[in-house]
Amino acid sequence: MTPEILAKTHAAAFTQSRAWAAVEFEDLLSNRFIHAVGNAKSFALFQVIGDEAELLTIATHPNFQRQGLARACMQEWHSKSKFLGATRAFLDVAADNLPAIALYENSGYRACGLRKAYYLRENNQKIDAIVMEIALN
Ligand SMILES: CC(C)(COP(=O)(O)OP(=O)(O)OC[C@H]1O[C@@H](n2cnc3c(N)ncnc32)[C@H](O)[C@@H]1OP(=O)(O)O)[C@@H](O)C(=O)NCCC(=O)NCCS
Repeated sequence: MTPEILAKTHAAAFTQSRAWAAVEFEDLLSNRFIHAVGNAKSFALFQVIGDEAELLTIATHPNFQRQGLARACMQEWHSKSKFLGATRAFLDVAADNLPAIALYENSGYRACGLRKAYYLRENNQKIDAIVMEIALN
C-alpha cells in the first residue's frame, strides 16, 4: 500500500471531514511506531507504543462497504498490536458516526471517555468524540 493509495481510499470514505494527503500518510508511515494493515479497498492505520495500541484511522472505499472488510482490518490490527506487545487498544470516534460506532461495538469496544467538541467539521460544526477501549486478550 502506497501513501497515494491510502490517501485515495481515505478521501473517498471520509466525505464529512478533511481528507489526509498522500504526504501526510508518507510522514505517518515513516514513524516507527505506526503501522498499516489492509489494502486499497479497506485499511487501518494504528500505532503501538509499549503496551498500548491506538487506531489512527480506518476506512473502506464506498464501493466495498458492508462486506466485512473493516471488521477484518480490526482483527488484523489487533493481532499485530498484540504481537508487538500491546495489551489494550484505544480509539476515538465522532459521536454522530453511527456506522463506525457499530463497527467498534461489534468488535468488542466499550466507551471509556468523552472529548467535548473535539472534531471540527468543514461547516464549522463541533462534534464530541467518544473514546473507546478494549483489552487485547
Ligand atoms: C466505518 C467503516 C470503516 C465501516 O467499513 P465497512 O468495511 O463497511 O464495515 P464492515 O462491512 O466490516 O462492517 C462490520 C460491522 O460494522 C457495522 N457497520 C458498518 N457499516 C455500517 C453502517 N453503514 N450502518 C450500521 N452499521 C454498520 C455493522 O455492525 C457491520 O456488521 P454487519 O454488516 O454484519 O451488520 C466505513 O463505513 C467507512 O469507511 N466510513 C467512513 C470513514 C470512517 O468513518 N471511519 C471511522 C472513523 S473513526
